[in-house]
Amino acid sequence: MSQRSCLSVILAAGEGTRMKSAIPKVLHAIAGLPMVAHVVKAAEAAGATGLALVIGHGADEMRKAVQKFAPKAETFVQEKRLGTAHAVLAAREAIAKGYDDILVMFGDTPLIDAAALAAARQKLAEGAAVAVIGFRPPNPTGYGRLIEKGGRLVAIREEKDCSEAEKKIGFCNAGMMAVAGNQALRLLDKVGNNNAKGEFYLTDIVEIAGAEGLDVVATEASFESALGINNRAELAEAEGIWQTRRRREAMLAGVTLIAPETVYFSHDTEIGADTIVEPNVWFGPGVKIASGAKIHAFSHIEGATVASYCDVGPFARLRPGADLRQKAKVGNFCEVKQATIEEGAKVNHLTYIGDARVGAGANIGAGTITCNYDGFSKFFTDIGEGAFVGSNSALVAPVTIGKGGYVASGSVITESVPDDALAFGRARQKTLPGKGKELRERFASAAAAKKRAAE
Ligand code: UD1
Ligand code: CA
Repeated sequence: MSQRSCLSVILAAGEGTRMKSAIPKVLHAIAGLPMVAHVVKAAEAAGATGLALVIGHGADEMRKAVQKFAPKAETFVQEKRLGTAHAVLAAREAIAKGYDDILVMFGDTPLIDAAALAAARQKLAEGAAVAVIGFRPPNPTGYGRLIEKGGRLVAIREEKDCSEAEKKIGFCNAGMMAVAGNQALRLLDKVGNNNAKGEFYLTDIVEIAGAEGLDVVATEASFESALGINNRAELAEAEGIWQTRRRREAMLAGVTLIAPETVYFSHDTEIGADTIVEPNVWFGPGVKIASGAKIHAFSHIEGATVASYCDVGPFARLRPGADLRQKAKVGNFCEVKQATIEEGAKVNHLTYIGDARVGAGANIGAGTITCNYDGFSKFFTDIGEGAFVGSNSALVAPVTIGKGGYVASGSVITESVPDDALAFGRARQKTLPGKGKELRERFASAAAAKKRAAE
């Protein structure tokens, strides 16, 4: 089958009014990726060599988004929403290029699995003209019913056009189908709109092909595979299913998730074996975690790279550009952004490290802040190997702490510190013997005098 060319036509012209959203429905994300991009991924995994997206509502925004996740896709605008067959025909130009297989898919069915698409394509390879992907939903209301006779699919009847007997059929149209490329346009051009909704139904090609004596079959996919998203509750349901699958995949690949139901992955999270993830951890897009790391509870990680045997959290925030090298530690209530924490360096408590390098083995004391921003520009802080920054220090960038440099606690460092130097950026302590007692007595008698005056 692999040598057969395949065009995936993805229908995404719907308005998605039930999302109650200013952005097109199919751009709402699952695991941080627009749902239509999940559909594109599935099409590619099923061997699609060409991609045609049929768009309508929010065309400019759609084109911009598509450029990001499917730069090679062609987009076609369906000006008027006259039905699914009419929508497929908006991509006529692409279909006419002569692909072996045409795979029609919906942009709002993000959990479609590549195996179901490949199975439909396989039927074409075996000689079918049309292979419809069916499924058995717990409640078939609203779906088109698949009407079969002797192992052949003879018709798909939309709910509104069904007889009472037909409504009892549990095998439904998932919406997607594979159509032989050399028949597709001819069959689609024969579709009329003589039905309850007055739309041009893609599903009519089943009867049209059957009447011509062509082979038409149905394949079966899982319910989840066919889950269409119409509102935010269904979006959350799809997200839940996606996360459950991904967690299982991670665990089977050797990652320990202590409470898997509380860990959230992104579409592109990479995580190595023998890494332990404690409860309530969020992985935003662009995260790469090597093996043997520990991610403690309540950490929020996005756009970050974490090497082997690092220790992160609890309650750590790694933002884009955080790059933790082997055995680095970023502890509780620390934020790291656009900064490299080199091998074995420790940033353990209540610290902000942004636009910086922390050299190997350096120790950053509690409450240290890199002051990287003056309200207009960002500046770099370079902390050398083995440096020690005392607690509650402010490093005002641009500034360098040399190798083995020492910064006294509570310093505000505005000038670079040479290698092995000790820098104080604060007033020296003054101690006055007996002064504490004297002060206490003075304050007590003042308070007593005030109380007497009020009586
Ligand atoms: C469709 C199927 C139905 C199936 C169901 C599965 C048809 C006629 N019916 O019904 O058998 O059980 O999906 O969910 O195909 N679209 C366009 N332009 C249009 C019309 C639709 O782009 O003019 C897109 C929509 O954005 C959507 C998809 O096609 O992504 C399906 O359209 P929709 O109106 O939701 O079809 P259903 O009535 O759900
Ligand atoms: Ca639908």
